[in-house]
Amino acid sequence: MTAAARRLAPAPAGAGWNAAVGAMVNPSDRRGGTLRLVSSADVDSLDPARTYYVWVWLLQRLLNRTLMAYPTDSGPAGLVPVPDLAEGPGQVSDGGRTWTYRLRPGLRYDNGSPITAADVRHAVQRVFAQDVLPGGPTYLVPLLDDPTRPYPGPYRTAEPLRSVRTPDEHTVVFHLNRPFSDFDHLMAQPCAAPVPRHADTGADYGSAPRSSGPYRVAQHRPGAFLHLERNPHWDRATDPIRPALPDRVELTIGLDIDELDARLIGGDFDINLEGRGLQHEAQRRLTADDVLRSHTDNPRTSFLHFVSVQPHIPPFDDVHARRAVHYAADKILLQQARGGPVTGGDLTTALFPPRLPAHQDLDLYPTGPDLRGDLDAARAELKAAGLPDGFEATIGTQRGKFRLVADALAESVARVGIRLTVKELDVATYFSLGAGHPQTVRRHELGLIVTDWGADFPTEYGFLAPLVDGRHIKHNGGNWNLPELDDPLVNDLIDETLHTTDPEARARRWRAVERRVMEHAVLLPLVHDKTLHFRNPWVTNVYVHPAFGLYDIQGMGLASGAPTGNDS
Ligand code: ARG
Repeated sequence: MTAAARRLAPAPAGAGWNAAVGAMVNPSDRRGGTLRLVSSADVDSLDPARTYYVWVWLLQRLLNRTLMAYPTDSGPAGLVPVPDLAEGPGQVSDGGRTWTYRLRPGLRYDNGSPITAADVRHAVQRVFAQDVLPGGPTYLVPLLDDPTRPYPGPYRTAEPLRSVRTPDEHTVVFHLNRPFSDFDHLMAQPCAAPVPRHADTGADYGSAPRSSGPYRVAQHRPGAFLHLERNPHWDRATDPIRPALPDRVELTIGLDIDELDARLIGGDFDINLEGRGLQHEAQRRLTADDVLRSHTDNPRTSFLHFVSVQPHIPPFDDVHARRAVHYAADKILLQQARGGPVTGGDLTTALFPPRLPAHQDLDLYPTGPDLRGDLDAARAELKAAGLPDGFEATIGTQRGKFRLVADALAESVARVGIRLTVKELDVATYFSLGAGHPQTVRRHELGLIVTDWGADFPTEYGFLAPLVDGRHIKHNGGNWNLPELDDPLVNDLIDETLHTTDPEARARRWRAVERRVMEHAVLLPLVHDKTLHFRNPWVTNVYVHPAFGLYDIQGMGLASGAPTGNDS
């Protein structure tokens, strides 16, 4: 097809605004073709243990399989991992401490060698080697380590990790040091994908990884492109999740974001893999163009945008000072600062995303019928704090969207005499060394901090524990419990949820956690983020995966007549 013809291709009306949210657009099992993806950033890593970008986790679904994985399902079932390499979900014994999985027979890597239980154990061992393989999630470490004899990872000792047993080639048994009801979710993270010890080159593994999924890396030129081809040893019959429709997947990397949008909409690419969302120029076109709108989805990203109120920084050691900020917030102004209802998000007064079972309507600090702030309530709180005329404080943020939110909050609370100074911290190190480092917070006396957060797995624990569990405070950086909340009641309730198998009882406990956290007034929730995704009409099986908030690339195929090849 010529370039000119391609540009005309999106002309027919698409499946409709938001048609790929909660449903699948263009369902098809047609095989063949090249799926042409695009991103502005490069992958963070092709080593499954070292990636944290959500979109790279979705890319990993093409390359790697895990014991458990999220199904190809646009509805609530998409949130629950199903057996992938494993024959069934983890068999639980010993009061939730022991998890046993059996591998399906006949599984192979892309070089034809068999996938064994020892390779799953090796993958888990690699997570302990944060000195060699930093970058990925580390939930497995505290669950599987022996604090009296910490395991240093597979590069410093030949001894295996004792809490993971492989009684035979097909069986893996995890002995956790405490119950953890979400363990199947951890077995669905890329870092649990099997890695054969003999192929493991440590820090270099990402440059030549083995594949267990339907595709393998054909070529990666960092910063330019990543090409995937079929893995000849992947056996469709063993894989209940992946349709693996295209013959090739080609990712073009490094486009400027406005150019990316224009070329995506023009048909040069099928899908934006990175899913940052359409930028201003494309948004402007969208409002005037119904056809374009019919190719667009506006899902929640499953990120919460919020402001942390720091009880260890005076005067926020007084709950009334914290509550004054909650009441004085102009929610409409803050939502606008975040980007408005379409590209910013849905206003919220509670923490849990709506898709989670424990989600409840909770509004402990109502901001008036127009949501512009309840200034009388704010002043009453200031009085109760002994600060009737207000006070001065510093709000930590970073340039860009976060800065706009900081300014909007400063404008809000100035109305009751709270005078905020905005402190911008470095973007690249914001979560590791800036807002995420307790010492930095103290050095700059950051009483308020602008941030956002998305769960690493779609459960109440995955969403809320890192933010409010006292045992998750990271004193050396990378801390997500920004207010350093360490409330024994909260911690105990969280532990109870991890023992509780009944879903209703568990949801009740999480609602109690959320209420208690909101009573402390340390987290000021603003919006559940939303974004705009564009889908080209010849792409099949398009849906926003509920566990990730982005398109599930792995499920996609190409309709007959789709543009082919890559001339970019
Ligand atoms: N929890 C991290 C954050 O909020 C990453 C979330 C999304 N990434 C992921 N792979 N789940 O920044």
